[in-house]
Amino acid sequence: MMNIAVLVSGGGTNLQALIDAQAAGQIENGRIRLVISSNPDAFALERAAKASIPSAVLRRRDFDSAEDYGAALTALLEEYEIGLIVLAGFMTVLPDSFCSRYENRIINVHPSLIPSFCGAGFYGLRVHEAALAKGVKVTGATVHFVSEVVDGGAIIAQKAVEVEEGDTPETLQKRVMRQAEWILLPQAVSDFCAGRLHVHGAWVARK
Ligand code: GAR
Repeated sequence: MMNIAVLVSGGGTNLQALIDAQAAGQIENGRIRLVISSNPDAFALERAAKASIPSAVLRRRDFDSAEDYGAALTALLEEYEIGLIVLAGFMTVLPDSFCSRYENRIINVHPSLIPSFCGAGFYGLRVHEAALAKGVKVTGATVHFVSEVVDGGAIIAQKAVEVEEGDTPETLQKRVMRQAEWILLPQAVSDFCAGRLHVHGAWVARK
């Protein structure tokens, strides 16, 4: 059984999708062992408590450097014998040393079709604001491995979602979550835990 840590910063709807998938028996060979929030007020913490999942808060500002923050995260992950780290709306950029230590063991969900609308400064609602400002007709979500390059690791899964007339960043965000993120993320986590994801250089194959 693979121990999973889910890192969050906000509402935690992607965490909820993982909790629901686990309850439905859809996370093969894995269990959510720990939730870590970078924000003490994140609603995600209430979702973890309701599901009886242990949680911890680690705020970036309580550490002098990104390296120290990464070391504190690592200590917690080791204590809980975590094998897979899932970034589910985690808004703190992780230091390079952390990303290389956990190479191919950190999965992120991003609310666009990478390489569009990604990288530094593109997170949460800002991604959807940028997509609407550009006037794209199709957007979506991407699940990918995390590397030292922000949003640059190997892509695991993507799903396209239509932009509709009159969309606001909020309505578009909701549709992308419902039609893509909440489906792709639990599937990718299950595939990882069941040993179905294989990284070959820059790309990922599903067995
Ligand atoms: C989600 O849309 C997730 O894809 C995005 O933040 C939202 C978190 O919502 N993540 C990023 O933008 C990362 N670059 P949630 O807390 O309800 O899961």
